[in-house]
Amino acid sequence: MKERLDAIKEQALKQIQESLSPEKLNEVRVSILGKKGELTAVLKGMKDVAPEDRPKVGAIVNETRAEIEEALAKAKTKLESLALEAQMKAETIDVTLPAKRPARGHRHPNQIALEEMERIFTGLGYEVIESPEVEKDYYNFEALNIPADHPAKDEQDTFYINKEILLRTQTSGAQVHEMEKGHLPIRMICPGRVYRSDEVDATHSPVFHQVEGMVVDEKTTFADLKGTLTEFAKELFGEDTKVKFRPHHFPFTEPSAEMDVSCFKCGGKGCRFCKGEGWIEILGCGMVHPHVLEMSGIDPLKYRGFAFGVGLERIALLKYEIDDMRLMYENDARFLEQF
Ligand code: DAH
Repeated sequence: MKERLDAIKEQALKQIQESLSPEKLNEVRVSILGKKGELTAVLKGMKDVAPEDRPKVGAIVNETRAEIEEALAKAKTKLESLALEAQMKAETIDVTLPAKRPARGHRHPNQIALEEMERIFTGLGYEVIESPEVEKDYYNFEALNIPADHPAKDEQDTFYINKEILLRTQTSGAQVHEMEKGHLPIRMICPGRVYRSDEVDATHSPVFHQVEGMVVDEKTTFADLKGTLTEFAKELFGEDTKVKFRPHHFPFTEPSAEMDVSCFKCGGKGCRFCKGEGWIEILGCGMVHPHVLEMSGIDPLKYRGFAFGVGLERIALLKYEIDDMRLMYENDARFLEQF
């Protein structure tokens, strides 16, 4: 009996030592101490032991069982601490590694161009103002010398809310609001959204942005207009930029002009960018029409003014060499990330 128990113990200890996982260890435990285990079988055989030998044999069995249980417990603790160690190693945080950068937003090219323009004009003493997007026909057209039957009204396909109220087709109404306040002199720019019922394509959108500008003072001349806008173009596109004023017509300015800048891509020689012209049109401008001053309560004999209107997208497209205006409105992060 004693030999059998020793053999069981020896084998059990060997198996315990060889168990490399808690599962394996459990198998060993069951195979020895479980219901059908080897040691349990020995215990069951106790009934065949002579009664006088039973205490002695019982003591040996218990001792064997205790030793095996102790070995099992030790092995279990050891396996658990090994597992914990492995887990800690796997989950180590290297605090010296640089942190992951959170994705940062980018300014929209329109916004960059606008901030640049605001910087230039505030530097010249201009105020940045706002004007309503939902506007009266009066401010968008009539007070700008565009009466009901004027052909310019057809050119700017208008979204009407009712007969009198519309979505502004141009920021020029800001001129009227500013003049009506009666605080002279005026030196302002007004950026904002404008609306026209245009189809979407590479150069058109039903919603786009303009920046209006206006100066009204006692001695304002066309030379001031030219000087200011020339300076603006050089600041925006570089010192070597040349400008050219071409006569044009706008109902609210007289005389009126469009201003071209020498192509900053080819310097004026002519390229794909300026369509071989060497020049790129960037704004409309002119001396405020005396009738417009008068309608807004300013004495045209005492005051004179100049005004200009810039398409913001046009500036941004040119400055950042973007060839499709639709990209400006799609909010594709891959596009925006470039700015
Ligand atoms: N409002 C004009 C447009 O939308 C642009 C413009 C031209 C504005 C001449 C002006 C100006 O202030 O003087 O086409």
